[in-house]
Amino acid sequence: MPVDPRIAIFAGSFDPLTKGHADVIARSAPLFDRLIVAVLVNASKQPLFSADERVAMIRQVVADRPHVDVDTFDGLLAAYARDRGATVAVRGLRTGAEFAEEWQMALMNRHLYAGLETVFIPAAAEFAHISSRLVKEIARLGGPIDGLVPPAVAAHLASRRLRARTQSL
Ligand code: PNS
Repeated sequence: MPVDPRIAIFAGSFDPLTKGHADVIARSAPLFDRLIVAVLVNASKQPLFSADERVAMIRQVVADRPHVDVDTFDGLLAAYARDRGATVAVRGLRTGAEFAEEWQMALMNRHLYAGLETVFIPAAAEFAHISSRLVKEIARLGGPIDGLVPPAVAAHLASRRLRARTQSL
């Protein structure tokens, strides 16, 4: 009897994707038949990178992983997961303090879609201090972002910085 493929979704803002996110993708992808990295298109937040730019950067980062898809979604994650036939939501956990909110979100997602379980991947110690927000702040203030984001993302941040400098001349 054919078995349904096990599809997982790793959703986030990814503005931009960090080395911590890339590590969660690398460690969770082998656990599933397909992993969908789903970029939230959130009109209420003003992202640094457009959804298309974020998707393009993530595609570069996962180019050597054929069973990882990159997509966008809007609205409820539970509804998107149901539409895509996913049964697992992957979340990275950096600190114990994050757990309370993540736990509530996991329960709410399962309330909305009983077929969706959340799998937590604990951040690797070397990436636990990294967040997209801090990366953007460091980049904006001209600090070094080496080691914080994958090279493809660093290149986009650098060209963004160059463009901002050129425009302020
Ligand atoms: O980048 P983040 O903040 O870790 O991503 C959070 C995200 C996108 C996973 C979460 O905000 C989300 O699922 N948003 C979609 C709207 C939704 O489903 N809200 C109810 C969550 S219980």
